[in-house]
Amino acid sequence: MKKDIWTISDIDDLTGKVFLVTGANSGIGYEAAKVFASKGALVIMGCRNLEKANKAKQDIVNEFPNSLLDIIQLDLASFKSIKLFTDKVLEKYKKLDVLLNNAGIMTVPYGSTEDGLERQTGVNHFGHYYLTMNLVELVNKTEDSRIVNIASIAHKYGNIKKNTFHYEKGKRYSKMKAYAQSKLANLLFTYKLKQKLEKQNSKITVLAAHPGVSKTNLGSHIKTGSIKWIQRTLTLVIQSQDRGALPGIRACTDKNVISGQYYGPSSLFEFKGNPVVVKSTRRSHKQELQDMLWTESVRITRLDLHL
Ligand SMILES: NC(=O)c1ccc[n+]([C@@H]2O[C@H](COP(=O)([O-])OP(=O)(O)OC[C@H]3O[C@@H](n4cnc5c(N)ncnc54)[C@H](OP(=O)(O)O)[C@@H]3O)[C@@H](O)[C@H]2O)c1
Repeated sequence: MKKDIWTISDIDDLTGKVFLVTGANSGIGYEAAKVFASKGALVIMGCRNLEKANKAKQDIVNEFPNSLLDIIQLDLASFKSIKLFTDKVLEKYKKLDVLLNNAGIMTVPYGSTEDGLERQTGVNHFGHYYLTMNLVELVNKTEDSRIVNIASIAHKYGNIKKNTFHYEKGKRYSKMKAYAQSKLANLLFTYKLKQKLEKQNSKITVLAAHPGVSKTNLGSHIKTGSIKWIQRTLTLVIQSQDRGALPGIRACTDKNVISGQYYGPSSLFEFKGNPVVVKSTRRSHKQELQDMLWTESVRITRLDLHL
């Protein structure tokens, strides 16, 4: 692991650039959108909840009055909503410098997306896969562009096997395993996308990042009454959401990144610290798993990468 100190003052002026952040109304996505806007980028905020999105936009504008922010509604649990969203983006914008696939849900009870997929992998992976396939041509025609996927330390506990995404009405469903699987999928997707883009002579840089353990709304649905000690332990190692956003922000803006890199915090088992290049598991680099996930993603979304 390389140790260095990188801060938002290392980011160049982003005037004239268009950034898209999914889940920009809260947590890591909100912090990232704020930093990009403060540096002059126009930020498309892909948000499910328009009320929260408007509040987030107002908060950013209050702090940075010149911010250029465009809220477009997006529900990653619905392919129909994603298509409406990407159609609007394609209609309004002639370039897309950075796509930050950030939105996510964690350890939610069993449920399915509008299209019948298990919710965590449906939102965290398949929704972002579908969104990316719809926007990749626009990203590709933008010079020096990149796609960044937000993963998690939890990917280390994830596995993907044949039929792994299919639960009969929640049978055999484990909310922890499904979350870990969805975050492993974010990394498998990152590495396979890089490979496929390179084969098609695309210059898009593809990266992944994770926020360590950051205080956001991600676990707000978890009832901690009986496990207060976990909360207390976590507060010792947890970092603020603005610190947690730094690995993703660095992956989106640092000129020295190399396609295929994975950014995360430098210290305490990557729970917190400076944003640096970190390693993902050997499993995340397994070609057969990357191929299996890609084939399944094409089957489900009926979209493949053709530039
Ligand atoms: N916080 C951590 O410690 C941590 C650790 C590892 C990885 N991560 C990853 O970081 C990313 C951001 O999470 P966060 O910690 O910032 O949590 P957060 O504060 O809960 O933010 C999650 C964002 O995703 C959005 N979202 C959820 N479901 C969506 C859907 N169906 N369609 C569109 N947007 C949806 C949420 O929108 P609503 O406001 O409408 O719900 C919200 O804006 C996630 O991918 C998560 O897995 C976080």
